[in-house]
Amino acid sequence: MEKLIINGGKSIYGEVEISGAKNAVVAILPAAIIASKGKCCIDNIPNIEDVNCIERIFEYLGCKVERKEGALTIDSTVVKSLNANTEHVRKMRASYYFLGALLGRFKEARVELPGGCPIGSRPIDQHIKGFEALGASVTIECGAVSVKAERLVGTSIYFDVISVGATINVMLAAVFAEGVTILENAAKEPHVVDVANFLNSMGAKIKGAGTDTIKITGVDEVVGCNYSVIPDQIEAGTFMVATAACGGEVKIKNVIPKHLESISAKLIEMGANVIEGDDNIIVKSDKNLKGVNIKTLPYPGFPTDVQQPMSTLLAVSKGRSVINESIYENRLKHVEELNRMGANITVEGRVAVIDGVEKLKGANVKATDLRAGAALVIAGLVAEGTTVVEGIQHIDRGYPNIEEKFKHLGGDITRAKCD
Ligand code: EPZ
Repeated sequence: MEKLIINGGKSIYGEVEISGAKNAVVAILPAAIIASKGKCCIDNIPNIEDVNCIERIFEYLGCKVERKEGALTIDSTVVKSLNANTEHVRKMRASYYFLGALLGRFKEARVELPGGCPIGSRPIDQHIKGFEALGASVTIECGAVSVKAERLVGTSIYFDVISVGATINVMLAAVFAEGVTILENAAKEPHVVDVANFLNSMGAKIKGAGTDTIKITGVDEVVGCNYSVIPDQIEAGTFMVATAACGGEVKIKNVIPKHLESISAKLIEMGANVIEGDDNIIVKSDKNLKGVNIKTLPYPGFPTDVQQPMSTLLAVSKGRSVINESIYENRLKHVEELNRMGANITVEGRVAVIDGVEKLKGANVKATDLRAGAALVIAGLVAEGTTVVEGIQHIDRGYPNIEEKFKHLGGDITRAKCD
């Protein structure tokens, strides 16, 4: 077990390079298993634990995987097992994408129920609804989901809720479904579009990703391809918010500014200076920012994944802010830790009322999920004195080299073994 030790109170300056998008890569890698010929060489792979987990799942299924300098090559021409019965599946959420991918290619799969951040109930009923609509039978027994179909046939599927996971998983299964599949009320997140682009590069026929209606025309076969993952919208958002909170000026490089519009808009509303370039964003802040209200929504709304880092910024901004977390019922657990550092936040259900304070004070705190971890790191950078963040295995699942990136910007942050 490791921890981060942060001596806070310093503004941050300089440039930071954003890595490949976690939530895209954790879908694109499992999707590669549908290629029955050729290898997939996927570039801009972030160095995070979730990617390590997926590598282990591939090996468990008998595929060959090779990692070299930020790229991963997957040879899935031979798949020896359709039963992903390994602890690595249970360690992360996105392992459920093996279900849709294997169902599409082999018409059969068994995958343990996924893990992931404890931020709410996170059902998979919409994934199941989609698989069944395509003609699969789905059973959940002994902690695993089994899917099986004689054949998959395209149809129209209207999702009851907007779900990133269900949209991608059903899209994966539908690549080989006979005829046309239409997904309605689909998620529009950038990573949904990235997965569709990757599948099309392999020979799938998918149109409309990025809108709420996705049309998939079934094909018989897809082949390996070269592909580069998009930059991480959430990692970029985290550095934008951190700069606003710490004060200073940071150029956030290798981003798609369009993906960050909801975050830029809020920071501008608070009084920060946000300058968009072609593939970078500069954030300047004198820390003299005013509170705002946030409601998390599916893309293009304000992302739930940036809500926790944002709450740290609002905790030290002037006046009252209100956060309404509309996606997950349990994504405000980090507030207790922020309050230990001197924040003044009350939570009722999915709503946090934040009365801005002048400063936070260093304390020993613990991350209980990935973005809670990022919120606490930002709090440590802002706070006077020393903060020790434990539970950083959650952070390592989704942020590559977080301490190195902040150190490079002038943050005093080091990693150490827990006693
Ligand atoms: C993805 O989770 C991301 N994870 C999450 O990122 C992100 O918070 C979330 O999308 C929303 O943007 C990955 O991509 C691996 P959903 P996912 O299905 O797919 C409900 C992070 O910090 N729902 O879009 O699991 C669900 O309960 C993580 O990087 C159903 O009711 O999220 C939630 O309220 C955490 N039935 C809402 O939909 C279903 O079958 C959105 O969930 C599926 C979802």
